[in-house]
Amino acid sequence: MAVPMRLRFFLLCLVWALLRPGAAAEDGEHPSGGGSSSIIFASLGSRSDNAFDIFTLPFRGRSSPINELRLTDGRSLNFNGHFPSTSSSGVPLLSLLSNQTLIRTADEAPPVPPSLELIYVTERNGTWRIYYDAVYYEAERKTRSRAALETTVRVQIPLVGGAGDGVSMKDKPTLSGGHLIYVSTHEDAGEPRTSWAAVYSTELRTGLTRRLTPYGVADFSPAVSPSGVWTAVASYGEVGWGGEVEELGTDIYVFLSRDGSERVKAVEHGGWPCWVDDRTLFFHRRGSDGWWSVHRAVLPSEGPVTPETVVTHRVTPPGLHAFTPATSPGNKDFIAVATRRPGSDFRHVEIFDLVRGEFRELTRLVSPRTHHFNPFISPDSRRVGYHKCRGGANGPETSPHFLLENVRSPVPGLSLFRVDGSFPSFSPAGDRIAYVKFPGVYVVNRDGSGRREVYSGTAFSTAWDPVRAGVVYTSTGPTFATETTHVDIISIAADNADGPVVKKLTTNGKNNAFPALSPDGKWIVFRSGRSGHKNLYIMDAVEGEMGRLQRLTKGPWTDTMCAWSPDGEWIAFASDRSKPGSGSFELYLIHPNGTGLRKLVQSGLAGRTNHPYFSPDGQSLVFTSDYAGVSAEPISNPHHYQPYGEIFTIKLDGSNLRRLTHNSFEDGTPAWGPAYIRPRDVELPNYGARCEFEDCHWLNEIPRKGFAGSHPGSAIARPQCGGS
Ligand SMILES: *[C@@H]1O[C@H](CO)[C@@H](O)[C@H](O)[C@H]1NC(C)=O
Ligand SMILES: *[C@@H]1O[C@H](CO)[C@@H](O)[C@H](O)[C@H]1NC(C)=O
Ligand SMILES: *[C@@H]1O[C@H](CO)[C@@H](O)[C@H](O)[C@H]1NC(C)=O
Repeated sequence: MAVPMRLRFFLLCLVWALLRPGAAAEDGEHPSGGGSSSIIFASLGSRSDNAFDIFTLPFRGRSSPINELRLTDGRSLNFNGHFPSTSSSGVPLLSLLSNQTLIRTADEAPPVPPSLELIYVTERNGTWRIYYDAVYYEAERKTRSRAALETTVRVQIPLVGGAGDGVSMKDKPTLSGGHLIYVSTHEDAGEPRTSWAAVYSTELRTGLTRRLTPYGVADFSPAVSPSGVWTAVASYGEVGWGGEVEELGTDIYVFLSRDGSERVKAVEHGGWPCWVDDRTLFFHRRGSDGWWSVHRAVLPSEGPVTPETVVTHRVTPPGLHAFTPATSPGNKDFIAVATRRPGSDFRHVEIFDLVRGEFRELTRLVSPRTHHFNPFISPDSRRVGYHKCRGGANGPETSPHFLLENVRSPVPGLSLFRVDGSFPSFSPAGDRIAYVKFPGVYVVNRDGSGRREVYSGTAFSTAWDPVRAGVVYTSTGPTFATETTHVDIISIAADNADGPVVKKLTTNGKNNAFPALSPDGKWIVFRSGRSGHKNLYIMDAVEGEMGRLQRLTKGPWTDTMCAWSPDGEWIAFASDRSKPGSGSFELYLIHPNGTGLRKLVQSGLAGRTNHPYFSPDGQSLVFTSDYAGVSAEPISNPHHYQPYGEIFTIKLDGSNLRRLTHNSFEDGTPAWGPAYIRPRDVELPNYGARCEFEDCHWLNEIPRKGFAGSHPGSAIARPQCGGS
């Protein structure tokens, strides 16, 4: 029977509408479901710069590049691995995960147990998830060709952290008896400056999840004992976070893996526990001599477990930093550790022989000029795993480099991106982005094309002119400098045919920074140290302070990081006026005529809340804050000045505080753009992974004799994305 022409046309349109990719959410259009904007922000540690993959070397025998295997995909951010024990019957774990979705098989999985099984954290499709990979590879052959080792078949299965789990961070997984035990940040701790990190257990067969950490407490770095009965964590216990960014000053608690009950404090001051047997664990601590070292704790075989009944003993010597220990069940002779040795700029994985008290180098023999993180040992003690950057000589040259990394947003219609650079801002139409790469200011189309440097000096913060097309403002000079440091505001006519034209708008060089334009393009609000304190001023946008200058705020404190609302009525800024000089910043609003001052965001005692930026509708602000504390032990990551930095939004009436980002990186300097960008990664052509990051700065220091800081004292490090 012939289908009438009109119906046929209708069906064709329907099919086209259904098949057209991203039909409801093209760039710049309103996606179905409401909202219509995007937020971009900077992280210290982008996927391109860290580009972590998990690698493994044999525990014994020669460490050489041909023995090193890359276990993860060479594309995502992959880290914090764990080798699960294969079930006693020799059946691969795959069969335990019967109702999980296989997401990729390069080929039909071979009908033999996989060569290696790995559980790890991965950032994919905008969120941190926990994956299981079964890796099949050919027997290691004596060959110089890396390719021969990488002809693997990989079966990948997402375990937790999928779309159904909301937006949160998942970290440090262990699989034990069909249960996955891990850290998640999906529950709001409800108090400012309190970590959301807590330990959960998910039964993989049923998906049933149980919180093991009591409410009101934060737990990090869980480790499950070989029998599966006990879990140890690094925890704040009763004492919360005081702003520490180096060592958190956690204690080690032990509880039943089953339900979190019988929770006891086992060790005062320690982190990153791991078990050898159900009574013996290792952990790290920065000692009173200043060195990070690994200690052993033996739990009593009878009677209550308390810091008094647990016998602890330092096992790694002073003279080098040794931390993030790893054990394998029953192996009482060896542990793996990460080290920083005096005279070396790199973090390496080494084996420590507990009987002889000697180290054996592992990764320095393979990639001497690369940092290696968070070792883990296979249950049969045959392999050591760790993660490192795949850039340079370490991995595939095809690893992509991103201008925009899609970060999953908890708000429908609002997309969220990490930008490859600092202090990003959108052009008025939202089609271009300006950002800073120290040194230099760049503009780029939001699809990654047309990237060019428009200013080559050291600069920070960017703002577009809302009226004069292609004009970008910035402040030139160093960040985090004193009131009298030479910093001036310039405008850059970026689209000028003969090259960018730069005009200096402030003249006295007294730390003039953070320009923001009034919506009519007539005025610039900025901070200046010209009075001896950093306060806010307003000047003529075209002629600069020579045109007209007016003071907006005045006081012996710091007002900084200002933003002008789209309706022109409000200026938002960060200020330490309630505790001058303390490093504590809160958000305030003021009318441009100096009236109506009010505090919008309480940071909690001595907290940091910075970099406000208005939503396109003027009803909300996005900002960066330490509201949710830290989410992981800082030493388990590369250096982050402010590992607590996360992105939040709030309504101008102070309601609806919302956390947007969940990770253990430093996120900061957000900007809110007028157009909706479809949530997907945007590549920058011709780049490749770069591995540009530094190890924790405090590991660079060789402790002096008489060092007394066994508990963290130096809480305020020089911040990168949030300082004044
Ligand atoms: C993740 O995104 C990629 C494209 O970037 C897509 O091919 C893949 O199917 C997505 N995976 C999941 C699990 O959503
Ligand atoms: C596995 O199947 C059970 C029963 O059908 C279901 O309730 C559970 O949610 C599934 N598990 C996962 C992790 O999807
Ligand atoms: C200051 O500006 C606000 C907002 O535009 C306005 O409501 C108020 O009347 C102004 N006050 C003075 C004294 O001009």
